Amino acid sequence: MVEIKWDSLRAAASEAMLKSYSPYSNFAVGAAALTADGRVVAGCNIENASYGVTLCAECSLVSDLFRTGGGTLVAFTCVDKSNNILMPCGRCRQLLFEHSAPGMLLETISGIRTIEQVLPDAFGRSDLAQRGGNAGEDLGEGL
Ligand code: THU
Repeated sequence: MVEIKWDSLRAAASEAMLKSYSPYSNFAVGAAALTADGRVVAGCNIENASYGVTLCAECSLVSDLFRTGGGTLVAFTCVDKSNNILMPCGRCRQLLFEHSAPGMLLETISGIRTIEQVLPDAFGRSDLAQRGGNAGEDLGEGL
């Protein structure tokens, strides 16, 4: 089990936040996460003139996860431009769930919580497997 240094993770989120492209909302967001093998991955929000095409910071973070070798996330934090902790939006909780190790910890506005606490009864790959869907044959490799 890798050691979680929340201060360093928050600093990585804050650094990523400074790269945000958010001219429409003026709401810069940075996210950072620790992977099970000890890497720190990060992302910022990237907006678009077609507002709905906006990428949340968590989307960039997941991209960074795969760019740097894949794996699962064990700890996550997200900050705004004043370095206040932000909750991931609903869509991003689902996005994070897909790539989280069981029990992934999140720094939240109400303290440290698990992914299962912030996305109870989550729909995931096991639902697909149990209900005859295609849960993927290459899970874990991402290839
Ligand atoms: N945003 C994120 O990056 N992550 C979230 O979890 C919440 C919202 C961004 C999207 C948009 O660029 C801005 O915050 C305002 O909604």
